[in-house]
Amino acid sequence: MLSVKSLSRSFGGVAAVDNVTFDVKQGHVHAVIGPNGAGKTTLFNLITGVYEPSSGQVVLDKADVTGMPPEALAQRGMCRTFQNLQICMNMTACENVMLGAHLHSNPSLWSGFLGWTRTADRKLEEKAHELMDFVGVGSARGAHATQLSFGVLKRLEIARALAANPRLLLLDEPAAGLNDSETHAVGELIRKIAASGTTVLLVEHDMKMVMSISDHIVVLDQGKKLAEGTAHQVRSNPDVVAAYLGADE
Ligand SMILES: Nc1ncnc2c1ncn2[C@@H]1O[C@H](COP(=O)(O)OP(=O)(O)OP(=O)(O)O)[C@@H](O)[C@H]1O
Ligand SMILES: [Mg+2]
Repeated sequence: MLSVKSLSRSFGGVAAVDNVTFDVKQGHVHAVIGPNGAGKTTLFNLITGVYEPSSGQVVLDKADVTGMPPEALAQRGMCRTFQNLQICMNMTACENVMLGAHLHSNPSLWSGFLGWTRTADRKLEEKAHELMDFVGVGSARGAHATQLSFGVLKRLEIARALAANPRLLLLDEPAAGLNDSETHAVGELIRKIAASGTTVLLVEHDMKMVMSISDHIVVLDQGKKLAEGTAHQVRSNPDVVAAYLGADE
């Protein structure tokens, strides 16, 4: 459903993403892994239209969507979460999820929509409640964002991205800052999202989770694709072990 073709982006002479090519298959869980600074978030920013690539193409459902703004991509079914928490702390949990139905990828605009959410219609609210149940934070329905734990807020972000009905969901470090059991539970949630028909592409440092939930893994190192394949293929690739996995073990 998504093809990334020879995608590159440099910042001041540094190739953050360097000629990266891979495909994302519908219904699968795909992961992008690599050390800090490998270019994972930049790759997400190129795919989701936050940055324009220096060269290369992003093809979504056979259409060239390279350089399209995040809002246009969201309308075509591509939504994302960000590496840093992007929850509006002056809103309720439910209002945060409802925002996702209207605003997909531009966090700087969210605060301007406070007025809108106050008068949002009941259908949106019902959908937000369903999504909160789906991601496992149904008990936070009436809560204000400031009352919620970090783990609940991370799930709330996923619910907000799902509120836009994505067919492809990109998650940048969904388990960052979570403990082992929370990480395991988010892994199960990601499999549940894929099983419900939404294809997932995630960036994640937690190798246990990545290896257990991903159908396909792309390994980046210094902007370049070092390897790709199943968890087994990637884990047994000597280049990957030397550049990355070896350092963790
Ligand atoms: N807006 C920017 N301006 C200049 N340099 C940037 C910018 N965004 C990213 N970079 C550089 O690009 C490289 C890749 O960064 P990126 O954030 O994509 O890495 P990452 O793999 O997501 O790392 P992490 O695991 O720490 O999140 C780094 O050298 C970073 O400093
Ligand atoms: Mg990153």
